[in-house]
Amino acid sequence: MRFAIISDIHNNLEAFRSTLDDIERQKVDKICCLGDLLGYGPDPIKCVDLMLDLRRKGKLEVCLPGNHDQAAMFEPLGFNYMAEAAVNWTREQLEKAHGNRAVDRLDFLGELQIQQYYRKDELLFVHGSPRNRLNEYVFEEDVEDPDKMSKIFNAISQQYSAKYCFVGHTHVPGVFVNKTVGMRYEYRSYDEIRKENGGVFSLGPEETLVNVGSVGQPRDGDWRSCYVILNYEPKGSDNFIEFHRVEYDVEKTVAAFAEIPELAKYPFLAQRIREGR
Ligand SMILES: [Fe+2]
Repeated sequence: MRFAIISDIHNNLEAFRSTLDDIERQKVDKICCLGDLLGYGPDPIKCVDLMLDLRRKGKLEVCLPGNHDQAAMFEPLGFNYMAEAAVNWTREQLEKAHGNRAVDRLDFLGELQIQQYYRKDELLFVHGSPRNRLNEYVFEEDVEDPDKMSKIFNAISQQYSAKYCFVGHTHVPGVFVNKTVGMRYEYRSYDEIRKENGGVFSLGPEETLVNVGSVGQPRDGDWRSCYVILNYEPKGSDNFIEFHRVEYDVEKTVAAFAEIPELAKYPFLAQRIREGR
């Protein structure tokens, strides 16, 4: 099976469209979305409609909730003032729309909240981490924190009986491997994997946590959309992932921010899209 795994689209329609075009060319079987479809960006309605189209066409394996999706449906808790303003604006757009399509969107977003993880064979999909599915960040520097890493890997193997876990949330693509011997953990950034092996990373016998990066708001210094293709057979010995970066019309997204006074108030929201931070 070939799965495209996307995350953190954040209302960025141009990035989402270009990424789906790229995925189409890669001939995948299904698409998994790890959450944060909403928040930050200028096009919530069209992004939800694109996701609903994927589901209608049977292309969606799963779409999980992220903390911004939850905040848009309920209440933003622990958000900074820009993220809060953007999520409140997002919610207003969803609420002021009318008609059947508007009801479908809210139904879909409501249903998202029900299951915060998805497990298939040895695979586990969550937004943040297996310990705190919506809100925990796993950063590169955590590889130096054996207490945190061991708890996360224990959750993958013991709580979920899984081996390979896929997350988003930090918007920084990379791979953590549980080397098991002597509580040693390894981290490979997207950049290292790209230089060492053209973006391809083999999944070995160790538990592995893959951050698939962000479609709509990458934060690793590269503005291009990021996603992962997983090539996987249950118990297979040749499972691997490929990181993909996709160029899109970033200036069109930046221009869309300028049209919305509630978002244009915070120039950093558009600037970070351009700079990948
Ligand atoms: Fe996010």
